[in-house]
Amino acid sequence: MKDAIRRTGLIFAFAALSLCFTRDGLAQTEIYDYERMASAIVNMLNAATDYIADNFEVINTNNARVGEPLPKGELHSYKGINPEGFAGLVGKQFARKTGISVKFVSNDKPRSSQNKADKWESKQLKKFSKIQYPKGVGYGEVVLVNGKEPYDIAYRYIYPLYIEHKCLKCHGDPARSPTGDGRDITGFEMEDFKEGELSGAISLVFPIE
Ligand code: HEC
Repeated sequence: MKDAIRRTGLIFAFAALSLCFTRDGLAQTEIYDYERMASAIVNMLNAATDYIADNFEVINTNNARVGEPLPKGELHSYKGINPEGFAGLVGKQFARKTGISVKFVSNDKPRSSQNKADKWESKQLKKFSKIQYPKGVGYGEVVLVNGKEPYDIAYRYIYPLYIEHKCLKCHGDPARSPTGDGRDITGFEMEDFKEGELSGAISLVFPIE
């Protein structure tokens, strides 16, 4: 019963907040602040994944150095650092310090079960995949959180990720598997994504109260 009253109270608070966000100038700026912060975090995470993807061969080749041609005849071995795995770890550390959660997600068959999109993320991913949705535009909104989180209202932001040429060596055609078994160098099955295709998204949750 107590829970039901609390829940009803929250729904009212949420409705009031949503009203404020459309009518009140201050709350609008607050939303704008969240959006700006979200966009900055996404940019930083993209820079991290790009750096690892661009330097993947350097990281995994003996005696290789950033910015120099790969040394010939050196051994190549995967050290366990991959673009989204690395950015995901940075995100986890960031979440511990700030409370803002960061996730790389995908709708169908994510590589890691913790990357599976939840209901909200899945809905946005479907929107992103529509032909008329503008490319590279994130989406954010204030939501009522239904779950076991220690907060009830949050700002959620999601940013679409598309396959670029450099992603193909891991997420591309399984026939080009470096190990000849349809897997990429990190040991995951290659998804056969094509350049320009939506592969997933970065999803952020900012707890409000
Ligand atoms: C060196 C291999 C490699 C490259 C290059 C690479 N990825 Fe990944 N990607 C991975 C691995 C491994 C995972 C699973 C990481 C984890 O354990 O969470 C992953 C996970 C993902 C996910 C999360 C969904 C899922 O399936 O788990 C997305 C989205 C993604 N990659 C997009 C991209 C994009 C876009 C690029 C290019 C800009 C890219 N990747 C480049 C290896 C790679």
